[in-house]
Amino acid sequence: MNTYQYLNSRVIFERAAKVIPAGIYGHLGPAEGCFIPVEAYPFYAQRAQGAYFWDADGNRFIDYMCAYGPIVLGYNHPAVEAAARAQQEQMNCGVLPGEIMVQLAEKLVSLVDSADWAFFAKNGGDVTNLAVMTARAHTRRNKIIKFAGGYHGVSQWMQFIGNAGIIEEDVSSVITLPFNDAQAVEQAFKRYPGEIAAIIATPYHHPAMADNALPEPGFWPAVRGLCDREGALLIIDDVRAGFRLSLHGSDAYYGFKADLICFCKALGNGYNLSALCGRDAYKEAVSSVFYTGSYWLSAMPMAAALATLTELERIDGPGLMTRQGTKLTQGLAQAAQQHGYHLKITGEPSMWYMRLTDDDTGVLHQQWVSECVRRGVFFTNHHNLFINTAITDEDIAYTLEVAHDAFRALRGAGQKGSI
Ligand SMILES: Cc1ncc(COP(=O)(O)O)c(C=O)c1O
Repeated sequence: MNTYQYLNSRVIFERAAKVIPAGIYGHLGPAEGCFIPVEAYPFYAQRAQGAYFWDADGNRFIDYMCAYGPIVLGYNHPAVEAAARAQQEQMNCGVLPGEIMVQLAEKLVSLVDSADWAFFAKNGGDVTNLAVMTARAHTRRNKIIKFAGGYHGVSQWMQFIGNAGIIEEDVSSVITLPFNDAQAVEQAFKRYPGEIAAIIATPYHHPAMADNALPEPGFWPAVRGLCDREGALLIIDDVRAGFRLSLHGSDAYYGFKADLICFCKALGNGYNLSALCGRDAYKEAVSSVFYTGSYWLSAMPMAAALATLTELERIDGPGLMTRQGTKLTQGLAQAAQQHGYHLKITGEPSMWYMRLTDDDTGVLHQQWVSECVRRGVFFTNHHNLFINTAITDEDIAYTLEVAHDAFRALRGAGQKGSI
């Protein structure tokens, strides 16, 4: 198989480094080390369609990062684009919201088990922050429990001492506990009686750079029971998993009910929108929080989101992504085994995490991923991957061919596995 070159990407990056902090700032940039080894990755994309994107050099990739989650139906899905265009012709950014906002809220309330209302914003962090403020407003308490490795955005309370710009007061009300440990939650409630406003958690544990973990049986019922007993809110951060496991909310998928639930990524198939949904008991509290943004009423993303949810429902998107993800991950694990390596798959099939366990340093995994990327399969090595509904059986078959070739390249470079 031919391997890709990224000459144009590098030329653009040199220009960018002069006028944009770090060239590409944040965790999406090469400076942060997410794309390792850096030389294996393109830096700029030109266009995208369905399951693919093309980089600035015209190389085609099957995209298993799905823009870090938002692309759930494939790029430029016709029904979503048509709905967005039709809304744009009517109105997008206006002084008043359109009726589409009410239609979308009605749709979320009818689909999501723990939603009696919906409040819209732009990014995932907008709504995780709003959820925490709402819990504090409702309970008049300060402290928040979160789980180690859980990511809820970049608000100060979410960050760590040692991160640039963060001071102790930012995080002094946050208690960090291990996921799947209901006893630790119980002890925290004992230690801080009447002080804990909420627990915020992803529905299963999907940290970066670590194996993912599903909730152990009994964990969520125990946490739900403790929140009820102690008068604290249970906030589910479904920003990443939302609508990839179930259209009824990932709390419903795992058999419990959140008080507040945060959606973003898959909600608008790439149109910028997030939603905090919740139960009636918290409608007054969320209404009392001072919270707004310049583009939060924009109507186009709302029309796109309504079309996205309607299409996901029509095709049973979560079921399809689970089946395709299962096929793909089983195939990848078998390919590894055939070449003498062990590929560990964790998390949910529609957004799995994988890691070659044959060395402890992660370098071998990085090398294998980089060989896949150079052959047109866009994986990263630090983060969970994503399926979207445009990925076909042919794409999966091609991905597996690439995976085999990438393992051959590892062997050819003298990198033996442990099997
Ligand atoms: C679980 C989770 N919560 C919150 C966020 C923050 O979302 P955003 O980057 O849109 O603010 C993310 C983003 O990756 C996420 O995965």
